[in-house]
Amino acid sequence: MNAQPRRVENVATDRGVIPQYATGIVEQPWGDYSAQDHAVWAALFERQRALLPSRACAAFLRAQRALGFDAATIPRFDALNRTLRAATGWELVGVEGLLPEAVFFDHLAHRRFPVTWWIRRAEQLDYIAEPDLFHDLFGHVPLLCDPVFADYMQAYGQGGLRAQRQFGAEALLNLTRLYWYPGEFGLIREPDGLRIYGAGIVSSKGESIYCLESPAPNRIGFDLERVMRTRYRIDSYQKTYFVIDGFEQLFAATQQDFAPIYPRLTSAAAIGAGAVLDSDAVLQRGTRAGWPEGADT
Ligand code: PHE
Ligand code: CO
Repeated sequence: MNAQPRRVENVATDRGVIPQYATGIVEQPWGDYSAQDHAVWAALFERQRALLPSRACAAFLRAQRALGFDAATIPRFDALNRTLRAATGWELVGVEGLLPEAVFFDHLAHRRFPVTWWIRRAEQLDYIAEPDLFHDLFGHVPLLCDPVFADYMQAYGQGGLRAQRQFGAEALLNLTRLYWYPGEFGLIREPDGLRIYGAGIVSSKGESIYCLESPAPNRIGFDLERVMRTRYRIDSYQKTYFVIDGFEQLFAATQQDFAPIYPRLTSAAAIGAGAVLDSDAVLQRGTRAGWPEGADT
């Protein structure tokens, strides 16, 4: 453990933003947060608390209540860990910034979720390119209290370690898309309509409205290999959201052995972020209004 954790952020250059990586785990320097840091947490928390009751899925809202987040101060990792360990055996570990893939997978495989210790600045309330404490804690941690989702995240980490050892870069790209679409931008069908569970959406004011209400994006039923072939956007709202019927569906689809799937995906062409295929279960075909030009990732 480092004594003085660093704040490892993306570096902006005239050739674009360069992501920076950090590897170790750090103690949360809770006493060092400034009044400004706590105020940023409060502003983000209040905003999402007002938006999410009719928009986030039931499991997310329930788990968030169980964790006892409140607006007053940035939560303490050690207090959250007592709740989380009792619920599903997961724990949070503090990190300084983005982790290299192998390190990230290894944490997940051991039921440790890395949480960035620092929070964004006041001028980044609406958008920050990299994960910060608010995104990681508010977005990802609640569903780790859900037993099905908790097992899914561990299996994802184990699958990542194996893919890295046995299947190479192409397989990792397929797995990254599987993290991106369900994990960060997933929608779920509930009795009263579509609800959000992806961490990237629940932690974003703009996208938590857009993903449900805008006519622009596609909303398509989840299909494992379809998702693993689909490019995504890192610099704008998604062009396509994939919808599951329940976490069991996601768990069942990903429990199968991916060994025969990876070669199949390698020989299949990647699918553009906004494409709709004849084979898709289309819930809503997007109008494409306001879609950005330029390449999908
Ligand atoms: N079942 C996958 C494999 O065999 C691993 C995995 C599990 C991937 C859960 C994603 C989510 O590699
Ligand atoms: Co995230």
